[in-house]
Order: sequence, then structure tokens, then C-alpha cells
Amino acid sequence: MTKDRRSKGWYGKLDRDGFIHRSWMKNQGFPDHAFDGRPVIGICNTWSELTPCNHGLRTLAEGVKRGVWEAGGFPVEFPAMSLGETQMKPTAMLFRNLLAMDVEESIRANPLDGVVLLGGCDKTTPGQLMGAASVDLPSIVVSSGPMLNGKFRGQDIGSGTDVWKFSEAVRAGEMTLQDFMAAEAGMSRSAGVCMTMGTASTMASLVEAMGMSLPTNAALPAVDARRMALAHLTGRRIVEMVEEDLKPSDILTRAAFENAILANAAVGGSTNAVVHLLALAGRVGIDLSLDDFEIGSDIPLLVNCMPSGKYLMEDFAYAGGMPVVLSELRAAGHLRPATTVLGGDIAAFTEGAECYNAEVIRPFADPVKPAAGLRVLRGNLAPDGAIVKPSAATDALLEHEGPAFVFENIEDMKANIDRDDLEVTADTILVLKGCGPKGYPGMPEVGNMPIPARLIRQGLRDMIRVSDARMSGTAFGTVILHVAPEAQAGGPLALVKTGDRIRVSASRGVLELLVDPAELDARRAAWAPDPPRYARGYAKLYADHVMQADRGADLDFLTGKDIRPVTRESH
Ligand code: FES
Repeated sequence: MTKDRRSKGWYGKLDRDGFIHRSWMKNQGFPDHAFDGRPVIGICNTWSELTPCNHGLRTLAEGVKRGVWEAGGFPVEFPAMSLGETQMKPTAMLFRNLLAMDVEESIRANPLDGVVLLGGCDKTTPGQLMGAASVDLPSIVVSSGPMLNGKFRGQDIGSGTDVWKFSEAVRAGEMTLQDFMAAEAGMSRSAGVCMTMGTASTMASLVEAMGMSLPTNAALPAVDARRMALAHLTGRRIVEMVEEDLKPSDILTRAAFENAILANAAVGGSTNAVVHLLALAGRVGIDLSLDDFEIGSDIPLLVNCMPSGKYLMEDFAYAGGMPVVLSELRAAGHLRPATTVLGGDIAAFTEGAECYNAEVIRPFADPVKPAAGLRVLRGNLAPDGAIVKPSAATDALLEHEGPAFVFENIEDMKANIDRDDLEVTADTILVLKGCGPKGYPGMPEVGNMPIPARLIRQGLRDMIRVSDARMSGTAFGTVILHVAPEAQAGGPLALVKTGDRIRVSASRGVLELLVDPAELDARRAAWAPDPPRYARGYAKLYADHVMQADRGADLDFLTGKDIRPVTRESH
């Protein structure tokens, strides 16, 4: 035995307990020297055939193992709940916190000294990070990587972004159903996550900007052999991180979160990054608030990827990926000094970074769009805030006043949005209630509700939409999201009626309901929440304890961390 490692509490014992811990592991063929005091590295894998974006992780886990053995560690792979964004109902977001609990308890209960987190699809990355941060053992991320560019009839098509476009084209009568169906296989033609700058690639990009993965992890295509090499190198590095005792709490500092916010603006990242960063900050005790996201509002859009731009993640990787973006932020004086998994400053991630395609990654001085960061809106309709993504919105709609058309819940919206007699015009502001963390429950990605059929037929492709929901990171439009408090929690959103006037000003950060306060008081007196949808199980636990969007929608009893050693044995 060498160092006094955490795993020594299992494998270093020469008694009955030690026998049990070692002997049963030996049934997998591990030799004696696997238990000689070397660092035990958990490989937390969200591989699942029900999470197609993560199906390549089984192979990458083998790459990590090569690196761990090579560096003198003992790799042990274990599964964590996998969250397939495109498969789970009512929404994968309902289960992000359950994955975080699974990861946290799996790490804590087992003889691990460090962890490699293998995730990719939207909720898997934040869920794993949140869980790992609450145990605070040395941890590092390897992401699935994006799919190759989608292809349909000779054109590049992007995950999600072109689904929304095609489905609106079908509704407008501009695309046949046969063509729509024919695009399916070409859109998703390799292993990997959505190849737009959706939530998965956004979170991988922010993980890299926070220094929680090796450089280039975010953008390398899933099937690029260099990703396997990166997994191998990550396996080597985690063993060193254990020796150095380099933990998430050393890396996930306020500066790291600020770098993530700045990077989110520069890549045109997903609105979902807001709830995930807020929740992660809550785990590591960083007092991050919605207002902190304003530091990104003046950062220009550098990465020309869908949904805010026109290229895809494969192009982003070949143009140089995140090291180039971080280099541009650094040269412009924005990148904060912060420690990374390499042990030094984040500036090291930018060394040698070179842009190979200035159309895809634009220089700071000649961006795709100026001032692209998310805007936080407040007012009597969102006392605790709401957000909008200007880079994916229609500029003219970002300053607007118009009448509300209200849908009380998702069923109301789906049943009526295409009615020919729907009283809406291009000026109307669509309002959707009941889609927040408690209300749905789980805060689904339905905030980018479809444009009403009668307006789509007139050629309209965007209008203001306001809700307590989220939207897919691949989506676009003038969509105001995460209104807090949500309707089900008694937020003013619950009181809006069709015909009320709403004022939006992204430049002034305003979201106002122009209704007399006495009238709102009367409506509040007559309001009651919907009865809970779940009487038992995890969904009830979630609805009873979930915090609002401005707190990251984590469960109230999961904030913070618990790093006490587990001393009791099971036998
Ligand atoms: Fe899994 Fe987009 S659906 S990454």
C-alpha cells in the first residue's frame, strides 16, 4: 500500500470486510495487483440504446480504461441512469436530478478515488456533473461528441433545427410528408449527439470552457478516431488528478462559471445552459444568479453554427473548436483566470489554437452577430426573471407590445393552435402556462410552440411566445422562456388572460403585463393551482421539492455537497 487513498477503506483492509470487497471483484478476473493501493477510477457511463446520442460511450469507456491502466490506475466502469432526450416522457429534464442523485450516491458508496464522467445527450452532462460535484472527488468529463453533419438530398441538415423548419414547411404545404419522412435517416447518420449547437454541444462546450474536460473534447465528432485518443488521454490524466487531489471544487469556481457564461454567448449556446449552470453552481456553493448571465450579453456570436448560424459541429471541429473560441475571448480580455483539469490556467487551452475556417469561427472583431448573449427579462410578469436568446430571435420582435393569446396548458395549446378561427395576428404574443418545473412537471422543451396554422399559411415564421417552459437548444425564434415564478407556483403568468397587453423590451430587460394592479389582485384571489398530477414516486418527490428556474430547478435538499467519509460497512 502506498498512499492513504479513499479506496484503501475498502481494499486496504486485511480483515473479513477487505476479503469481501476484494474477493467478489476478483470474479471478474482482476489480479492481486489491481488492489495494491493504486488509484481506483470509476468510469460513470450513461451508455444506453435508449439514449442514442450516448451509444458510442461503450467504445470510449474502453479508451479511458487503456489510459487508466497505462498510468497505473485501476479502472472500473459502472452505469448511471441514462436520459434520452428524444425518447423519455414527459421530459428528460424531470429526471436530470434523479441522475444526479444516482451519480452522487454511486460514487460515494463505492471504493473510488476519481471519476471519469461519460455523457453526452442534453441532461446527462449536467446531471453527472451535479452529482460528482456533490461528492467532490477528482472528476473529468469525456463527451459523446457530435454526430457527423446531417445530409438530405445533397444539403447539410442540422439535428432539431431542421426538424422544426421541416415540420413548419409541412404545415405550410411547402414540403410533402414523404419528403419529411425521407429526411429522418439522413439527419442522424452516425453515433453522437445533435450536431447543431443544441444543448448537448452547448454543455460540452461549456464544460471545456470551465476546464472540466481536456481541450477539444466538445467538438470532435463522435466517430473521429481522435476522440478515442482523447478518451485514452483522459484516462491517464484522471490518475494524475487523483495524485494531485485536484477536485471539482478547485475547478468549478466563480471564474469558471463566468467563463462558461461568456463562452455560451460566443458559441450561440442553448438557453438550457442557464438552468444547468445555476443548478451546478448550487452544488459547489457558488452564489450564481440570473443577473450574472448579463456579463455575456455584450459578447458577440463567434461560432456560426445552427440554430444561430448556418454551419454544424463537424465544421466547428475542423475549424479549430473551443480552443479557438477561448483564444478569441482571451485576446479580447474577457477570459477569466481559472484552474482546469490540467492543473494550470485555462489560458493553456488556447495555446497553439489556430482558426482554420474564419467563416465558421469568426474573429471577435468581425462576428456573426454583435452582443449575442442571453438577455434576462424582468417585470411584473416575471418578478424572478425570464430569458430570451437574441441570437436566435427576430430583431424587430425584441422590442414589442401586443395582445396576449393564452393557452392554459399544453393540451389546450395542441388542441387549438391550428384552429382556423384562432384570433391571432403577427402582433399577438402567445402565452403558455403550466409548463414549469412543478406544473408539467419537469419543465419540458415546449416553449417554442408552433406558429398558428393560419399565420404559417400567410408566411409568418416567427412571433413572440412566452411561457414557463424551456425550449430545445436546437430551436430558434423570439421565445421568452423560464418565466419565474411559474404559473403552477402562483407566478403572475397564471393571471394572464387573452387580450391582455404585454410589453417586451430585450434592450431594457423588461417583460410587463399591462393590466391594472387591482384587476390582477382580483384575479389572484380567484386563482388556485391545478391539482398535482402525481400522487406517488419520484415525480411527486420532484414536484414537492423542485426549485424554480431561477434557482436551476434542482431539488431543494440536493444543493451543496457532502464529502464526509462513509465509515460503516454492510456486513
Ligand atoms: Fe441527444 Fe440532442 S437529442 S443530444
